[in-house]
Amino acid sequence: MTDLFGALRLPTSIVLGSGQRAAVGAYAARLGTRALICTDKRMGSDREFLNIVAGLDAHSVRYAIYDATGADLPIEGISECVDAHRAFAPDVVIGIGGGSCMDMAKCVSLQLAHGASLRSYYGEGKIPSPVLPVIAVPTTAGTGSEVTPVAVIADNERGTKVGISSPYLVPAVAICDPELTLSCPPSLTACSGADALTHAIEAFSAKHRDVTTDLTLANVFVGKNALSDSFALLAIQHLFECLPTAVRDGTNLQARERLMLASLAAGCAFGTAGTAAAHAIQYPVGNDTHTPHGVGVALLLPYVMEFNRPTCVKDYAAIARVIGLTGDDETLSRKLIDAVAALLASIGIPRTLKELGLPEARQASVANAALSATRLVVNNPRALDLGAMQAITKAAFTGERASLAAAEKCS
Ligand SMILES: NC(=O)c1ccc[n+]([C@@H]2O[C@H](COP(=O)([O-])OP(=O)(O)OC[C@H]3O[C@@H](n4cnc5c(N)ncnc54)[C@H](O)[C@@H]3O)[C@@H](O)[C@H]2O)c1
Ligand SMILES: [Fe+2]
Repeated sequence: MTDLFGALRLPTSIVLGSGQRAAVGAYAARLGTRALICTDKRMGSDREFLNIVAGLDAHSVRYAIYDATGADLPIEGISECVDAHRAFAPDVVIGIGGGSCMDMAKCVSLQLAHGASLRSYYGEGKIPSPVLPVIAVPTTAGTGSEVTPVAVIADNERGTKVGISSPYLVPAVAICDPELTLSCPPSLTACSGADALTHAIEAFSAKHRDVTTDLTLANVFVGKNALSDSFALLAIQHLFECLPTAVRDGTNLQARERLMLASLAAGCAFGTAGTAAAHAIQYPVGNDTHTPHGVGVALLLPYVMEFNRPTCVKDYAAIARVIGLTGDDETLSRKLIDAVAALLASIGIPRTLKELGLPEARQASVANAALSATRLVVNNPRALDLGAMQAITKAAFTGERASLAAAEKCS
């Protein structure tokens, strides 16, 4: 086999299981003696959070708490946290919460280690050397940020969300305790789980790059590869089997556990393979509609899959088999897109950009802005130009997936 290629970049320790949050203090003590904990208002007053903090005391780790992380991580909050805690001189940063709090911990560890303006690190591979070690403790099952090399920030000056990607941002330790997600309401469970599904499908069908020895050295995201693939399939299987149950009955711990496993596995997959068009289009859509990231990427996913299908028949068929569908590759690739759309509808993800609240007049600017997310555009399995972006955006606005067949013929 000549095209076998694999790459992974992961934390030194990944721990998954109910009750494992009690290990945070001991892991912190292995990494340092002064911990800065980044969380948000909700978590900051949660009993479980206070128990985790007590675990730091028990291991003689001194700590400071920043509990004002804003949803979607506005850049101003990051500077506020760094300025307030520079004098405390932490040697480990702990992010406890959803993707926003974990990304906060990554950005704070970067700024405390290197000092320069966060804006100078936007993009890929701009961080020169290691940052402070981060312990990431997710309380949603979705972003996978606990294992990924990315932090996503809302920067009003740029008018969109921006990413900082570097292998140095991969947390040192990920502690994934599904019991921390029991309090997620159905809408949060749905949108974060849908984000994980999009990560896994976009990673599994990412572009197959030309493999050179420079590929993993020069790029944070390297496209489809055998190691990411195994994590992506693991994630998709569990998501199909347990996401609707967890949305319907948030107290079902077994479903919560499998959802946490799935979002972690999806993070392991896309953290190296990368994501693609659904994520590129969501950035401007999220900016215009102020809707959650997971809702936007999931809404776009069936349309992006339909556009990509001519290039992805074999990949989609492989995923379809994992979720128990039968047929030849061509049939399976179509059935998969219908199954994804049905799963998303069953957990309440809106079907069109119109339902999401995107004004019709904004379609063109969304397509334009999406095309500028180069890292995601080049990772899409099928080449994307402005016409293609417009076709996907239009189909996602009207809900007519079949109209993408016309786009198939143009390129
Ligand atoms: N770094 C990455 O790899 C990566 C990947 C995908 C998304 N993201 C980013 O992550 C962010 C989204 O993260 P998210 O979806 O986890 O949401 P979030 O962190 O923005 O939190 C959303 C809301 O849910 C609440 N919440 C969190 N956990 C809860 C719980 N257990 N019970 C009840 N409420 C809870 C929070 O307090 C907040 O009000 C976005 O900024 C997105 O761009 C990052
Ligand atoms: Fe995402």
